[in-house]
Amino acid sequence: MERRIVYMDYNATTPLHPLVRDAMAADLGVFANASSMHEAGRAAKARVDAARAEVAKLAGVPNPDELVFTSGGSESNNTVFATMFHLGRKGGRRKIVTTAIEHPCVINAASWLRDEGFPVVFLPVDASGRVDMEAAEREIDGDTLLVSVMSANNEIGTVEDIPALCRMAKAKGALFHTDATQSAGKVPVEAAAWGVDYLTLSAHKIYGPKGVGALYVRKGAPIEPLIRGGHQEHGHRAGTYNNIGILGFGLAARLALEDLEGRAARIRVMRNRLRDGIVERVPDVRVNGHATEVLPNTLNVSFPGAEGEAILLYLDLEGVQVSTGSACASGSLEPSHVLLATGVGPELAHGSIRFSLGSLTTNEDIDYVLEVLPPIIKRLRRMSTVSVA
Ligand SMILES: Cc1ncc(COP(=O)(O)O)c(C=O)c1O
Repeated sequence: MERRIVYMDYNATTPLHPLVRDAMAADLGVFANASSMHEAGRAAKARVDAARAEVAKLAGVPNPDELVFTSGGSESNNTVFATMFHLGRKGGRRKIVTTAIEHPCVINAASWLRDEGFPVVFLPVDASGRVDMEAAEREIDGDTLLVSVMSANNEIGTVEDIPALCRMAKAKGALFHTDATQSAGKVPVEAAAWGVDYLTLSAHKIYGPKGVGALYVRKGAPIEPLIRGGHQEHGHRAGTYNNIGILGFGLAARLALEDLEGRAARIRVMRNRLRDGIVERVPDVRVNGHATEVLPNTLNVSFPGAEGEAILLYLDLEGVQVSTGSACASGSLEPSHVLLATGVGPELAHGSIRFSLGSLTTNEDIDYVLEVLPPIIKRLRRMSTVSVA
């Protein structure tokens, strides 16, 4: 088979949708400050607010004014944790309950609060990555200020039961936040129906531009700005509007909702074919994540006896772009905290690969990966001195 480029890292980021790219390019010369009072400023603000209405629909929010534009998922999540810092310092509830499998921007923000003296609990998950509901019942109590659970995991794709967890939090009078960065555009997101106080979105995961995101803040929920300055976003987030980024986000949100189910179904079929093909052609693999409660595009597989980084590099040589179950932190390769939390040992976690598919993935891409992957694993296993129990 002829070498081809196969991008299977859509959970890391997505290409700009061509219509989003065209709309952004067409607006590059529109420079007015959306806070300016003159006609051009008002026109720019109208476009920001039109985009806000589209993003509100993606979040499942009837009132677009409850959305705050940010620079992305990391900022949205950090805004929630910074708000808890300010609330907790005033006395009263201080306990933060989150999970062991959150994105590093939540894990590190929660760890910061722990270092500041807040009681912080990282809930365990089961082997499929679903939050341990008994532990959640036990830990979410009358001292809990915030419960933060991601809607879907970026590494293994497991989808959490957000309505049930939110009900638990509300029953104890706690605030509830969900990081929906990976769910949006892949499965329905219903912030208002779920009853959450805060919900995080990011444009570059839904074929929009990088550097723009949003935080849903339920009317009446406390919010402290992370960035102080002007009065933009009702004083919740200062800084001159990123007009073009926001315009792109709005269009990407609209396109993401168009045929959400159809696109998900098409991608799910290809993901399942990839999964079944790998299981059939490569002996002794472990498919990570939940069998059914999983994002339609995500497949995480452990290959005992092969190193994830080596698999990634060999796949890259063949033109296939994926991610590993490790994160390169300060020069050392740490096994994925997500896989470790699901009970996968460090060696197996090191031999794990995330394939994340998207709207440009084709059946030919799947055929190609199924052809080039098995000999790579075979070769690496032969070379490997690692013994895996
Ligand atoms: C679950 C999750 N949350 C947050 C982020 C961070 O989003 P951003 O890159 O927009 O800061 C990511 C991106 O990888 C993610 O997957």
